[in-house]
Amino acid sequence: MFVERSSRIPGFYKLPMEERLRIVAEWAGLTPEEVELLKKFGGLDPKIADAMIENVIGAMPYPFAVATNFRINGRDYLVPMVIEESSVVAAASNAAKMLREGDGIIARCERQYMIGQIHLMKVDAPRYKAMKILEHKNEIIDLANQQDPTLVKLGGGARDVEVRVIETRRGPAIVVHLIVDVLDAMGANAVNTMAEAVAPLLEKITGGEARLKIISNYAIYRLVRVWARASPEAVGGRDVAEKIVDASALAEADPFRAVTHNKGILNGVIAVALATAQDHRAIEAGAHAYAARDGTYKPLSTWDIDREGYLVGTLEMPIQVGVVGGAVKVHPIARIALKILGVKTARELAEVMGAVGLAQNLAALRALVTEGIQRGHMRLHAKNLAIMAGATGELIDIVAEQMIREGRIRFDYAKELVEKYRRELGQQS
Ligand code: MEV
Repeated sequence: MFVERSSRIPGFYKLPMEERLRIVAEWAGLTPEEVELLKKFGGLDPKIADAMIENVIGAMPYPFAVATNFRINGRDYLVPMVIEESSVVAAASNAAKMLREGDGIIARCERQYMIGQIHLMKVDAPRYKAMKILEHKNEIIDLANQQDPTLVKLGGGARDVEVRVIETRRGPAIVVHLIVDVLDAMGANAVNTMAEAVAPLLEKITGGEARLKIISNYAIYRLVRVWARASPEAVGGRDVAEKIVDASALAEADPFRAVTHNKGILNGVIAVALATAQDHRAIEAGAHAYAARDGTYKPLSTWDIDREGYLVGTLEMPIQVGVVGGAVKVHPIARIALKILGVKTARELAEVMGAVGLAQNLAALRALVTEGIQRGHMRLHAKNLAIMAGATGELIDIVAEQMIREGRIRFDYAKELVEKYRRELGQQS
């Protein structure tokens, strides 16, 4: 008899991890090998993993790689990247080589200010009340700062208050922005605590009701500006440089292309964000909002050719990251990533990420206007297939090369080739 299963498992979160895993294994019919795989936590202590999120039953390792050749603001960096997509790390390293001249890629990030939003409804005469809020600015800032004496001691804290009156389909809303210098933290915790703390005061000032009290990931006061130049020779000649500018111009004119252009930038930015355990969703959300700031979705970077014939690129985007607090603090691999990078401040981490984003973008555009993106992808894909088919050592390259040469990059063919070469080797020995 078929008994319908229920995903309603009261108290699942309270069970020991082993027990949760047993339930899921039974539910999904996981084999003992699959269960063992889930239990491999790599460099992450299971206790830490269990405390990081809810309902943990295992861990999922991703490859941790290092991009080479990066020279940013006159300093060399090895850049840790975590990503599931092949070619990204190789592409970043390649483009970084093209952009090494002089001080390399220049990246500047200044303020580390985040915005906390307090949303007020049921305010009569909202524009009048907006003035009253501004009149109480210092009081609001003081109250916010009382929530985080450590941040204030270190030189950060709430800096300013902005007020906006917004017409919503539920009537007028007042949105108060609390501008907070979060220094080296990503800032969500500090800002959310402050926003919640000042909400009752804002209710008192306006006579309204506070609704949302939350950070805005549209981090317009946390921008990174990046610029770099590459000689025409470095990118493969003037013709290639011209075509890269054509690609940039298309992204500026067509949102469909701009999204993919920006996806290429985020390939680099987010790979570093993952390696350093950042809130990458916040970075992505902020990046896309910034790309659409003029009402049309635009590329975050542009490419041109200067008078000397150099290909010159610029990028501007918000990057909200932290080197203290949150997962960065507790994830041992993230701490190693920061050590490899050698960055000590959120600002420097953001600069490195911006630089990686611009390099990644150059690599993508260069590949797209020359041999296309698939060749590099397929090379790695072929290698992966060869490994999955059981190839080891030099057989991996032999099998991969043959599949590429013959244009038959498929798992069944990889298996056939591995077996064939194994037989031949067996006969020789
Ligand atoms: C693939 O992950 C990223 C690209 O599509 C970016 C781009 O088109 O610029 C290659």
